[in-house]
Amino acid sequence: MGYLISFEGGEGSGKSTVLKKLADYLSQQGHKVVCTREPGGIEIAEQIRNIILDKKNVKMDAKTEALLYAAARRQHLVEKVIPALEKGKIVLCDRYLDSSLTYQGYARGLGIEEILSINQFAIDGYMPHLTLFLDVPPEVGLTRIQKDDEREVNRLDLESMDFHRKVREGYYQLLERFPERIKKINAEHDIETVFKEVLSAVLNYIK
Ligand code: TYD
Repeated sequence: MGYLISFEGGEGSGKSTVLKKLADYLSQQGHKVVCTREPGGIEIAEQIRNIILDKKNVKMDAKTEALLYAAARRQHLVEKVIPALEKGKIVLCDRYLDSSLTYQGYARGLGIEEILSINQFAIDGYMPHLTLFLDVPPEVGLTRIQKDDEREVNRLDLESMDFHRKVREGYYQLLERFPERIKKINAEHDIETVFKEVLSAVLNYIK
């Protein structure tokens, strides 16, 4: 069995950049690495992603959104993640379960327990072995996004600052609930420093 390592954090926390650097490093060390992301990562889940993040879909009900994330997660898990784990690969996933717990469960107010329970149905016990939470104040993260011309602004980026603050609070609650699994990394530092911290957490784990 391989390892499932998820990356979590608010908008503009630098997850994707750090994930790529980590993938390069681990591959050079001879590990077999798969990089993927949620929602998406495979065709069916990318299609679901387009529906969820479409700026036109302002009418989307919060529970519909939560169920669509869980559906995308399920398909991605069975089609991509489980086969890779069975081959002994390290799967680096940009967002996973905890995103739903904090965005839908906490920030949208549907309840962390409720979202955990619909997701348990979807993930069949496939919890991440390790989760890196890249923590950055929302003001800093959103400023980074606005400076990044290549990144398209999606429906969730357009939420209020209050929503993004809640997302961060939700992650803090998850840290308390899953202290063994989730490691908090200060992502206000420059990318090299953040990468070093992430790398040491990962190497500690996969040894
Ligand atoms: P994306 O463009 O991938 O954002 P980021 O670069 O910040 O990861 O868009 C994913 C959005 O979906 C992001 O705003 C977080 C949100 N999301 C949820 O609300 N719930 C979830 O379960 C997942 C996986 C993502």
